[in-house]
Amino acid sequence: MRSTCLSLILLASIATLIILAAKAAVAAEGLNNSGSAGLYWSTAKEEGDLVRTADAAGDSSLLWDDEDEDHRDFDAGGFSSLDGMLQWAIGHSDPSKLKETAKDVQRWSPDELKKRHVEIKELMEKLKMPSDAQLMRIAIDDLNNSSLPLEDHLRALEELSLLVEPIDNANDLHKLGGLVVVIRELNHPDPEVRTISAFILGKACQNNPFVQKQVLELGALAKLLKMARSDFVEEAIKAVFAISALIRNNLSGQELFYAEAGMLMIQDILSNSSTDIRIQKKSVLLVADLAECQLENGNNPGPPFFSDRFFLRSVVDLLASVDLDLQEKALCAVKNLLKLQSTEALVFKEFCGLAAALEKIRQQLQQLVKEEQHREHAADIETLRGEVEQIFIGKLNRDTQFPT
Ligand SMILES: *[C@@H]1O[C@H](CO)[C@@H](O)[C@H](O)[C@H]1NC(C)=O
Ligand SMILES: *[C@@H]1O[C@H](CO)[C@@H](O)[C@H](O)[C@H]1NC(C)=O
Ligand SMILES: *[C@@H]1O[C@H](CO)[C@@H](O)[C@H](O)[C@H]1NC(C)=O
Ligand SMILES: *[C@@H]1O[C@H](CO)[C@@H](O)[C@H](O)[C@H]1NC(C)=O
Ligand SMILES: *[C@@H]1O[C@H](CO)[C@@H](O)[C@H](O)[C@H]1NC(C)=O
Repeated sequence: MRSTCLSLILLASIATLIILAAKAAVAAEGLNNSGSAGLYWSTAKEEGDLVRTADAAGDSSLLWDDEDEDHRDFDAGGFSSLDGMLQWAIGHSDPSKLKETAKDVQRWSPDELKKRHVEIKELMEKLKMPSDAQLMRIAIDDLNNSSLPLEDHLRALEELSLLVEPIDNANDLHKLGGLVVVIRELNHPDPEVRTISAFILGKACQNNPFVQKQVLELGALAKLLKMARSDFVEEAIKAVFAISALIRNNLSGQELFYAEAGMLMIQDILSNSSTDIRIQKKSVLLVADLAECQLENGNNPGPPFFSDRFFLRSVVDLLASVDLDLQEKALCAVKNLLKLQSTEALVFKEFCGLAAALEKIRQQLQQLVKEEQHREHAADIETLRGEVEQIFIGKLNRDTQFPT
């Protein structure tokens, strides 16, 4: 099924044309992307991005933006099959040809572009577009074909990572045999393959109980937990991302996570000062999430780990981070942990030194508030810090009045 046939190059060229035409139309008519004309290019990338994507597909470098992955894009109902098709067409096209086309098009006048735009629109309607399911099928087949070289596998994975974004596609992944194949790739010798595979699983599971269940039942969690300790930073980051997406709001998934010593992994990550800070951020956020889930489910004791003083100290220690974002996430985690009945205020006070840590943050924020560019953020963190302090004092009063 793999091909770099002419029609695909044509499709990719059309993609470039559409975008340029769209830009011209926007300039000429003052249309904007929220216009009501059903402008299907509104979610497409800029032409510069397209060419870059094409280049990158050639050298199979990873394109994701780390901040992007935590948000499933609900805008406009995810991306259309047009987007999926463009991505696919671009991935299967010759980058140099794409660039050439882009250059030619830039020489056209606005009128010419407008005319082209109409023609292209008609053409697109006539073209039978492959569905996302078909595109996923092809990527899965490529991935499952061991006689294809690594770069084809990487490309198939990158395509899948985009295709699973809309929830309907994620729901189809298992039916198409994709989950089994992607989970198998978690054992691939190449770390980049493992990394994207974890990323795909995380994306597919995100806010999706249906896929969470499938992935849990296929037993991927244990492998992801191992990957979270990888020396390859990207692999560890995507593994923690995937774990979080997999067990979020899923109690039986969380039980499995605890049973597989997931909390020990978290503690190792939090307490190891050589760990990449991005991994620590994702991990401490996961702690906040897990504790919150316990609270929402009737504040049951949760795993013994939650009241373990060494674990608690590893979270409180992060409050001393110079990274404001990490500090804020750690504050969220401490807040939720304090609210759990199973944790003891005295442990936070005496073993973790929470009062001193909170005081230090307060002083730091007082300085920061004076700086224009930090004022707002510092004020937000101070609000959160004050909240944590109140909960801490309340818990301390309760625990000393009615010791357990
Ligand atoms: C652009 O979109 C906004 C709505 O987001 C609308 O108020 C505005 O009128 C639009 N501009 C044009 C030129 O259509
Ligand atoms: C695997 O890829 C090779 C090389 O492109 C191709 O000849 C073969 O038909 C493919 N196998 C399957 C099962 O699709
Ligand atoms: C992957 O290939 C094997 C044969 O090599 C086949 O049995 C299996 O059904 C394929 N899986 C998918 C999802 O296509
Ligand atoms: C969590 O995943 C399990 C599979 O391990 C599934 O049976 C269960 O329905 C899921 N629970 C929720 C709340 O989504
Ligand atoms: C701490 O993290 C570094 C970097 O990931 C790793 O090489 C080292 O083995 C870790 N130390 C411990 C005690 O786990």
